[in-house]
Amino acid sequence: MNLKHEVRKEFYDRYGSWPDLVVRSPGRVNLIGEHTDYNDGYVLPMAIDRAVWIAVRSREDRRVRVHSSQQSDPCDFALDDFPNSDSGWSEYLKGMAKFLQDAGHALVGWEGVMCSDIPISSGLSSSAAVEMAAGLVFSELSGFPFDGTAMARIGQRVENDWIGAKTGIMDQVICANGREGAALLLDCRDLSSESIALPPNTIVLVMNTKTRHDHRTSGYADRRASCETAAAFFGVSHLRDLSVEEFDVRSRTESLDARSLQCARHVVFENERVLAAAEAMRSAEAADLGRLMDASHTSLRDDFQVSTRELNLMVELSRAQPGCLGARMTGGGFGGCAIALVQTAKAEEIASTVSANYQSATQITPDVFTTRPSCGTSVV
Ligand code: GLA
Repeated sequence: MNLKHEVRKEFYDRYGSWPDLVVRSPGRVNLIGEHTDYNDGYVLPMAIDRAVWIAVRSREDRRVRVHSSQQSDPCDFALDDFPNSDSGWSEYLKGMAKFLQDAGHALVGWEGVMCSDIPISSGLSSSAAVEMAAGLVFSELSGFPFDGTAMARIGQRVENDWIGAKTGIMDQVICANGREGAALLLDCRDLSSESIALPPNTIVLVMNTKTRHDHRTSGYADRRASCETAAAFFGVSHLRDLSVEEFDVRSRTESLDARSLQCARHVVFENERVLAAAEAMRSAEAADLGRLMDASHTSLRDDFQVSTRELNLMVELSRAQPGCLGARMTGGGFGGCAIALVQTAKAEEIASTVSANYQSATQITPDVFTTRPSCGTSVV
């Protein structure tokens, strides 16, 4: 049963009628451009064909009540009074309610059910998917337009100021504004974007290591702080404003602490790689795109230092397969998923070989699957 039918049926079983509204909101992978978003730089993510689905009806009493098939506790709160309890998936919905109300929207309450096939805590942005899905439900039922970019900014505030994760804007934008069949080249300074298709006869393989490391929050904050130190040292507001040439000259003659220098090097060259990757995609140069993805991984592993043993292993195992054009970790790092760009005809074979080899090297059963670029958050 596909998730649209499942979420409608679960709604019917619970409430004895069909939902007023069903929304779908996808997860994402990032093809290239990691840890560049909060440096005002470029990213090239795509929404994937795995998503959060919510089926709802409105309520008269300004309460929000949602049952999730992935969670044991329901989300249940009143729109007039909801303290931050600092735990659990409800906080994403409460946070959306908080910042939508702060932005002046009069919200209507609702109830419903949620299903998802985005694995949680695997770096595929299941939380951004929930935020944008909730945003669309609020906008549809409360009668204000859903502007994907404005909603993404609200979602980022939820992460930054309600959840306490100082993340950038990439995940929410791609989740809200993804395009069927294309990745999005996004300039995180002004949020302008361009849709670009994958090279013909290629497909993205997602390789979930099924690992996550505890330092992912503190590690992220540390890297971000190093980027800010480097930007201040070079006298720019964000590392996006530092060219490769200027970085090369000044990093040879002036002294910055080693970690900040490595972080800056990653960001400066990663921005260049994103623009080169977009050009490779426009001109259907799959091999070039693959090489840039490989280089991005090396930089994240050695300079930015956010990869892990399991992510490196996935990348190496996939690169060893004929038909793999390039591979890298995707998302924030410290566990989660790697991706590979592979020839479509070889995808299934590569997936099963990588899966078996990873399992025998680590004793962990991974989840390796192909994915296609899908559309962003929408009413279905
Ligand atoms: C996480 C964050 C994003 C971005 C990536 C790294 O996914 O949510 O904002 O910083 O890490 O590119």
